[in-house]
Amino acid sequence: MKALIPAAGLGTRFLPATKAQPKEMLLVVDRPAIQYVVEEGLASAADEVVIINSREKKAIEDHFSPNPELVALLRERGKDTYADAVETVGNYNVSYVYQDEAKGLGHAVHCAADKIDGEAFYVLLGDVLVPDNQMLPSMQAVSDAHGGASVIAVMPVAEEEVSRFGVIAGQEIEPGVWKVESLVEKPAREEAPTNLAVFGRYLLSPRVMELLADVEPGVGGEIQLTDALDALLQEEEMYALVVDPSDGFDTGTVESWLETNNILYARAKS
Ligand code: G1P
Repeated sequence: MKALIPAAGLGTRFLPATKAQPKEMLLVVDRPAIQYVVEEGLASAADEVVIINSREKKAIEDHFSPNPELVALLRERGKDTYADAVETVGNYNVSYVYQDEAKGLGHAVHCAADKIDGEAFYVLLGDVLVPDNQMLPSMQAVSDAHGGASVIAVMPVAEEEVSRFGVIAGQEIEPGVWKVESLVEKPAREEAPTNLAVFGRYLLSPRVMELLADVEPGVGGEIQLTDALDALLQEEEMYALVVDPSDGFDTGTVESWLETNNILYARAKS
């Protein structure tokens, strides 16, 4: 089972900060945002973490590559804590596939089609952080309870925010678990079926990869993962786990990134 981390986006909302630096490398408290996501993937049941990168974003690969010269220099100077941190992150087992055109999240995920070997797979969006690594195991438990079905994390959002997200329709079958009936990407506020927004953690049936091959461009002219999930519902069941706002943090806008830094910094200090 693989954990896929799409990271080829342009980081438009953070320009000019992301002109020469990937948005995934922006600092959140003490490490780049993507390091949290990779660590979550490594802590999960996945046996491989695959970053779907753009060829322009070498900094991400440099971050997860060994740098023995730097480690040796730090040790020579007695800075073992830093040496250990550099060594650890350089030894993370991460592999890469490339998305050569920015054609949307669904297209990015499909770039890793050859990696998944007909197995279920996780997708972890790089601008959503789950510092305690507990969300994927909780989603796996829901899947196990429902015959291995796909499970997505959803979070209640304010009505005026629904049009920024994918949104589900369905029925709550037990506290905090919904059986999904349909999904819509970035609906207008008055058309959103619920206020449950797709949150950036997915446990997906391998059939999603096949469906992605045929998904037409949707909202924003992009190939949307949400549209493939909606198509999956014609063939398979899907469940949604409602997660708590204190379980995960969006860093997709300058404001939410700042807020996440403040919350996680306060947590680290307490
Ligand atoms: C993506 C997904 C959307 C999801 C969101 C979560 O949108 O397409 O369904 O709700 O991530 O962050 P994006 O933020 O890339 O526009």
